[in-house]
Amino acid sequence: MQTVSQLDMLRNTVSALRAGEKTLALVPTMGALHEGHLTLVREAKNHADHVAVSIFVNPTQFGPNEDLDAYPRQLAEDSAMLEAESVALLWAPTVSEMYPDGYASSISVAGVSEGLCGAARPGHFDGVATVVCKLFNQVRPDVALFGEKDWQQLAVIRRMARDLDLIAPGADAIIGVPTVREADGLAMSSRNRYLSPEQRQQAAALPATIEMAIAMLRDGHEWGHVQAVAEDELLMGGFTQIDYFELRDADSIATLDADNGNARIFVAARIGGTRLIDNRAVGPTYVT
Ligand code: PAJ
Repeated sequence: MQTVSQLDMLRNTVSALRAGEKTLALVPTMGALHEGHLTLVREAKNHADHVAVSIFVNPTQFGPNEDLDAYPRQLAEDSAMLEAESVALLWAPTVSEMYPDGYASSISVAGVSEGLCGAARPGHFDGVATVVCKLFNQVRPDVALFGEKDWQQLAVIRRMARDLDLIAPGADAIIGVPTVREADGLAMSSRNRYLSPEQRQQAAALPATIEMAIAMLRDGHEWGHVQAVAEDELLMGGFTQIDYFELRDADSIATLDADNGNARIFVAARIGGTRLIDNRAVGPTYVT
């Protein structure tokens, strides 16, 4: 694996990897890698000859009171994990390489980035879209992989890639990978390490409550009622604040008040200072 942190070196390395018509898949990350990230890396191998992973804790996607400084940074450990997965290229730019003096540009994706995390974290998706666009321009991959855990992020990136003609044309250049979960259902996340042992146990209420809400919808309960019961359940289970618990269309991210056949439940909730997100498809509604 070649580790590169400067753009001129990146260009040479990418050209060498591409020699002989070889294809390249990109897995963008912020590091502190876990099995969720590694699942994306393994899946990437099914879509290209070589896999590139980027590690960059992107300051522009963190709000002023968020965890940018606390966000775990462990490049040596991450690097060893990627080496073991036969990754060809690790792109780990510095903040000044990514945002040189005088940097002034930003990408904003309307519609899909509104509501949910877009409302709870103003500016977050502009930061994500801009850095992902830059990563695509820097690495020029044939395909890129993203996790469904961050479903709205995936929708924003798909929209941007289509709108701005990034990567190759065609809907399948941006590949979504299903959420990888712990044994108790909690979605793996670099932020789970912020949880105390007691909070870690309580956190399992997040996926369990989504499951409960899906079951209630399938039993014919109205969404407003389901939402109220689910929010109570989370607050009783140890969550201290609910940013949102919403039913939305999976593609447009538009608000729904009943399953339209393409609905997902989206949740962001906090335990103490730790903010966790999750989402699931509702699936077919059974009317009895
Ligand atoms: P990060 O949180 O490090 O996640 C990197 C990728 O791993 C994202 O596509 C995310 O959805 C995926 N991922 C994280 N946990 C997962 C899980 N449990 N199962 C499946 N996939 C999972 O998301 C970001 O970084 C950043 O916003 C980034 C896209 C790199 C832009 O800075």
